[in-house]
Amino acid sequence: MNKTLVINNISRLVTMEPGPNRESKLGVIADAAMRIEGEHIAWIGRQADLSASSNNDIIDAKRAVVLPGLVDCHTHIVHADFRQGEFNLRSQGKTYKEIAEQGGGIMSSVRSTRAALEEDLVASAKARLDEALSRGTTTLEIKTGYGLNFDAEMKMVRVIKELERTSPIKILGTFLGAHVVPAEYKDKRGEYVRLVVDKMLPAALASHAISACDVFVEEGAFTADEARSIAKKARELGLALHLHIDQFADGAGGMLAAELSALSADHLDHTSEESAGAMASKGVIGVLLPGASFFAGRGKYPNARMMREKGVKLAIATDYNPGTNPSLDLWFSATIAVTQMGMSCDEALLGITRHAALALGSADAGKIAKGLRADFIVLDAPDEYFPLYRYGVNFVKAVFVGGKLRRGTL
Ligand code: NIG
Ligand code: FE
Repeated sequence: MNKTLVINNISRLVTMEPGPNRESKLGVIADAAMRIEGEHIAWIGRQADLSASSNNDIIDAKRAVVLPGLVDCHTHIVHADFRQGEFNLRSQGKTYKEIAEQGGGIMSSVRSTRAALEEDLVASAKARLDEALSRGTTTLEIKTGYGLNFDAEMKMVRVIKELERTSPIKILGTFLGAHVVPAEYKDKRGEYVRLVVDKMLPAALASHAISACDVFVEEGAFTADEARSIAKKARELGLALHLHIDQFADGAGGMLAAELSALSADHLDHTSEESAGAMASKGVIGVLLPGASFFAGRGKYPNARMMREKGVKLAIATDYNPGTNPSLDLWFSATIAVTQMGMSCDEALLGITRHAALALGSADAGKIAKGLRADFIVLDAPDEYFPLYRYGVNFVKAVFVGGKLRRGTL
């Protein structure tokens, strides 16, 4: 028989699946234990119901709280230079849009990322993954989109593939060649869209590092029609579709996401009730990026309460990137969602776990259940809500991925 690992003396095991003898929308089992066999969860339940076996390694959780590993379903962690100078400019009154129009913003990251060595991009992204892991993230999506020509986008794809191969974090790659039209295609944008559709997307798919496609739909980025032609190709290639929509203005992005049956529509700061209704009717997951709204949104936040009432399932991600949110702290994002967007603490915790997994089409992540991969985190906190309340402090004491301790101690 396989040697098993038992974690006992858990004060609250937060499964993220409500059920009989479980508390709250988060399906909490109080006074719990779990048994892990190999990489998977073999049993969870009340400690009193744990059957004895001599063949166990036993870890005493000392009344800690256990949650599933967090899921960050929208990031741009592969990039070269930071853009702290732009933060200074914004503090003096310049807008994100003005900075972009003057050659900064996304194009500034494109220039530095194009010039960077592949191994340097891998090394800096690895350090960021390490930071995410220490805060409890065990599944994370990464977008390309700072290359914006064939060679540089493929370089980003290879970096993502290397991260997938080496990181303890489960990585999902998304192709975002349609982030903005690069400066050299300013007067021939149709040609750039054709390059994305005919050459970049098929090559990105062939790398086996990419499972989805994303388009930034916004004034200054791509139009709805351009997004339609990119989405059509993505669908033909079997890629899932994410969209950046309604970040700086209501561009009816939710209607487009519904029309294209996107897996997720992200940002939503300016999304209307009508758009939210359309998203709900097509089951498009809404991904809120509170860190970006906080850091670059000039006080405007998505209306999570309205979207919930319309029936949109809501996830939360960091949107880590060097422009609009240089933070990988999902807990802080969740706190902002509670204080500024009208989400309950339960919804926010579902948003960074189970619902974020749904936004990636990875229904097995973001929850704790028998048979699932044993990706979970141990919190040195009185309950699961405490890290949202006592924001800014890292309460993650240990991180397990596939049943193995990958960060911290117990
Ligand atoms: O998600 N909205 C578009 N893209 C990023 C910003 C990228 C950048 O400024 O470098 C975002 O906010
Ligand atoms: Fe983004």
